[in-house]
Amino acid sequence: MEQYAIKGGNPLVGEVEIGGAKNAALPILAAAIMTDETVVIENVPDVKDTNALIQAMESIGAIVERIDRHTVKINASQIHGHVIEDDFIKKIRASYYLIGALLGKYKKAEVVLPGGCNIGSRPIDQHIKGWKALGTQVDIAHGLISAEAAELKGSHIYMDVVSVGATINVMMAAVMAEGQTIIENAAKEPHVVDLANFLNSMGANIKGAGTDVIRIKGVTSLHKTEYTIIPDQIEAGTFMFAAAVTKGDITVKNVIPKHLESITAKLIEIGCEVEESDDAVRVVASKPLNHTHVKTLPYPGFPTDMQPQMAVALGLSQGTSIVTESIFENRFRYVDELTRMGANIKVEGNTAIINGVGRYTGASLSAPDLRAGAALVLAGLAAEGFTMIDEIQYIQRGYEDFELKLKGLGAQIEKVETEREIQKFKFKVS
Ligand code: UD1
Repeated sequence: MEQYAIKGGNPLVGEVEIGGAKNAALPILAAAIMTDETVVIENVPDVKDTNALIQAMESIGAIVERIDRHTVKINASQIHGHVIEDDFIKKIRASYYLIGALLGKYKKAEVVLPGGCNIGSRPIDQHIKGWKALGTQVDIAHGLISAEAAELKGSHIYMDVVSVGATINVMMAAVMAEGQTIIENAAKEPHVVDLANFLNSMGANIKGAGTDVIRIKGVTSLHKTEYTIIPDQIEAGTFMFAAAVTKGDITVKNVIPKHLESITAKLIEIGCEVEESDDAVRVVASKPLNHTHVKTLPYPGFPTDMQPQMAVALGLSQGTSIVTESIFENRFRYVDELTRMGANIKVEGNTAIINGVGRYTGASLSAPDLRAGAALVLAGLAAEGFTMIDEIQYIQRGYEDFELKLKGLGAQIEKVETEREIQKFKFKVS
């Protein structure tokens, strides 16, 4: 079983290049099957989640060619099925984007119910509400969700909660529906906008993505396109916090600083310096970190996917901080692990009360989910001594070459599999 071996304590310094956004790549890849013409997508991150989705698309007949590590060419003219039930797809949340895409194009889809990180109950009632409003019959049976429509008709849909997944899924189904669809209380995340731009580049007519009202005029077909995915806001934020917790100086390159504003604001509040340029941000942490409060919110609020990384920094900050998780109810599972490193954190409901400690000490840890796993790596890099982290397959779902990028900044981290490799690492760094 692969693990990360980490020797913490040295500041991370240098430059790191951010890849394409996983959460934009997933719906964009799925939406590529909505045309019979060839689509070229650049800046696709090479991570487990995107690869699993590509595999699922291939299983129903899409021809996917990798031009290089981050560029894929997709032709879906030979799609021969609308049923996706392979085991691997169950593990990723974004499998349900294939329902929106298949439903939009073929008016029919059957996909295994989605899995994904265990961070809460993650219902899909808003997706179903949206599809039904467009005239779809939706059934859940034997672990499969089936959606079928004689024809899709535009509708006026008010989302009861702000949901990235539901906004995306309803948008995809509505693109080729007859007439106009209006989605109110839509999610405004950069990846929602990226998908809308991608679909528009294929001939869709979507207006208002990035605001809370999205207007879609149905078109009869979509055509070929070449499209580049936006940089990953959460990967960027994770490296920004790596600078904060290791008292480092990191320039995070190939980003859209506007997408990082809520993260930048919190780093400044806790005492880091953040310099922005056109497509990079530099984070310098030369002073002791201060406490603050943070509440996760839909974009442009502070992202729930950055909550564990923020908590790792607050655990090392002077004073008492309060972290409120308002999106998912089960997102503090990393707290027990951090406690083993000496953190002083008490969780009450959806709130964590963090009393900063001067240092973390290395320990053997388990990654509970994708973002929390990355946050524990940051904690290990900040800690005194050795840290071992297992279950790193979660981290690999969303971070490409995580350990290599960290090593490029001077981190002492290695992916290890055997006891011999662990001993070799310890010998090398001690
Ligand atoms: C996406 C991201 C995930 C991120 C989250 C919030 C992907 C693959 N995943 O997840 O990394 O943490 O956005 O930014 O892009 N909800 C309902 N009913 C629904 C749908 C959602 O009640 O039908 C609730 C959820 O339980 C949650 C909230 O809405 O409390 C937000 O969830 P949502 O935005 O849908 O998250 P995901 O799209 O699953």
